[in-house]
Amino acid sequence: MLQHMAIPHPFPYQGSKRGIARHILAHFPRDVDCLIEPFCGSGAISLAAAAHGLAKRFWLNDLNEPLMALWEEILQRPNELSKNYERLWTEQHLDKRAFFLGIRDKFNAEHRPHHLLYLLARIVKGSVRYSAEGLFNQSADNRRSGMRPILMQRQILGVHALLAGRTTLSAVDFRKVVAEAAKEDLIYMDPPYQGTSFTRDHRYCSGLSYAEFADALEILNDRGLSYMASYDGKTGEKSHGKPLPRSLSLTHLHISAGRSSQATLLGDKSETVESLYISPALVERLKDGQRHDKIPQIQQELALE
Ligand SMILES: C[S@@+](CC[C@H](N)C(=O)[O-])C[C@H]1O[C@@H](n2cnc3c(N)ncnc32)[C@H](O)[C@@H]1O
Repeated sequence: MLQHMAIPHPFPYQGSKRGIARHILAHFPRDVDCLIEPFCGSGAISLAAAAHGLAKRFWLNDLNEPLMALWEEILQRPNELSKNYERLWTEQHLDKRAFFLGIRDKFNAEHRPHHLLYLLARIVKGSVRYSAEGLFNQSADNRRSGMRPILMQRQILGVHALLAGRTTLSAVDFRKVVAEAAKEDLIYMDPPYQGTSFTRDHRYCSGLSYAEFADALEILNDRGLSYMASYDGKTGEKSHGKPLPRSLSLTHLHISAGRSSQATLLGDKSETVESLYISPALVERLKDGQRHDKIPQIQQELALE
């Protein structure tokens, strides 16, 4: 019987690839030196890959500096972070609404990692929103208290155990990160989709354009690098974006991501379909049985999650 392996996740994050990780891991070659996630958010793919031994080292990057400071805390000071979260979670109960707003103001003034963790735990589905000035302005789900401290501590320590000591962190534009990639590495990219909150221009997000992303991929192709990119997405007949240019010669796969929560709320039965593009160099690397041999088992384990 298969061992059920629960993958820890550090915080809820909108657009997390946790739910479809097994479809993405299915295209991992067997010899990945460093898995690079230049748009990491909550790092769902790196965590799943680390849990299953699919890469030796990891590089997590996101343009959002406070988010990467939170990652640093998880990897360097997990116990302190867990305690700070527990203190906030416990103190909130007299007036959850007012407490959330107070922490949001403090976060906007000081950018402390445990404040961000508390905010992420309290907002609906980790849907981060910033104003044009770069102020965190999402409101709380006041019907819920956020993840219990004991459970949060388990997630934080679990992530720490998987990634500490073999992970590089940075908070720069994705192009600076992929410029350092080597042929033995694998790059997984999940840029902000066209038309979502992440593409809005503000201090933490430059609103990456379609053309800029396509230009960057062309350079990666010229360098013969292995990469996968999640881009666009489709719910039923409604397309959320334009497919990447044919001139990049990418293999375009469609992943069924189940029903979107928005569609379910509206009684809509349409399926969300996500695009996954695979670079020519990675397709070559996967030929002749070079796919990771643990993949079928991993897919089943992740499906059980
Ligand atoms: C769709 S989310 C990634 C979600 C992630 N796959 C997960 O599992 O949580 C896109 C991320 O890209 C980041 N981002 C936006 N523009 C960027 C850029 N130019 N360079 C690096 N990161 C960027 C955003 O801050 C956001 O966290």
